[in-house]
Amino acid sequence: MTRKKMTILALHQKKARGEPITMVTAYDYPGAQAADRAAIDCLLVGDSMGMVVLGYDSTVPVTMEEMLHHCRAVRRGAQYAYTIGDMPFMSYQADRSEAIRNAGRFLKEAGMDAVKLEGGREMAGTVAAITAAGIAVIGHIGLTPQSASKLGGYRVQGRTAADAQRLLEDAQALEAAGAVMIVLEMAPDRVAEVISGRVRVPIIGIGAGPGCDGQVLVLHDLLGMFDRFIPRFVKRYAELFGEMERALASYRDDVAGRRFPGQEHAFAMDDAAWAEWMASGKIEGPTPVR
Ligand code: KIV
Repeated sequence: MTRKKMTILALHQKKARGEPITMVTAYDYPGAQAADRAAIDCLLVGDSMGMVVLGYDSTVPVTMEEMLHHCRAVRRGAQYAYTIGDMPFMSYQADRSEAIRNAGRFLKEAGMDAVKLEGGREMAGTVAAITAAGIAVIGHIGLTPQSASKLGGYRVQGRTAADAQRLLEDAQALEAAGAVMIVLEMAPDRVAEVISGRVRVPIIGIGAGPGCDGQVLVLHDLLGMFDRFIPRFVKRYAELFGEMERALASYRDDVAGRRFPGQEHAFAMDDAAWAEWMASGKIEGPTPVR
């Protein structure tokens, strides 16, 4: 069967059929290409990029220009996946017109299929306004890293009955506002399952258990390329940071020990040109014998 570009309709049909949706973050061309070849459904250019790629302490400093730069690289590497650009802190909170204009830039300047923004019912008006402008919006509730300091850190959300009910109502408010999918981060598995069963749009969980309609992980977490901290909900599928360190140390040793480059990495000059150059009288001192 020929593979088709993933659409929001196809993602909704997956939920209707009970087929899990796969999503991973991507920040550059090779990461996007690898995920696309692995047939991942959705690539999220998350503002987690600020931490795992740019080395910031949180996602708060990330700018629109940084996001767009990385979204463009991902777009070039993604042929089939549904691509989502994450709206950075303060690109949508202060003013609805600004939110619409910034959301539009992800589509116009970076070729994204949709945007994601953080917040529940308090963001419903903004989600409705961006949606009315013809832009697909993904919501993000539960732990919302841009407001981690307000939430008291990177903590599980929805643990009390009242908080669980609040999360459900947030999801329903986003759906009513037109959100086409919702990311639910760090919530108890039972709460996530209830929410997934009570909204029509797909709920994509991260640290929210197996009862969601799909799962998302940060690429650098699952590949073992980010060591500053490892959230409990992450499963490591590789240890690439260790592999990178090992490869770089071997390269350093080879260069220091004159084992690299070898003859197979060098370029030859033909003998006649070499002889002509040596006979030119312009080369003083010792010359290579090769
Ligand atoms: O920025 C990000 O990578 C995210 C995911 C954690 C869902 O928002």
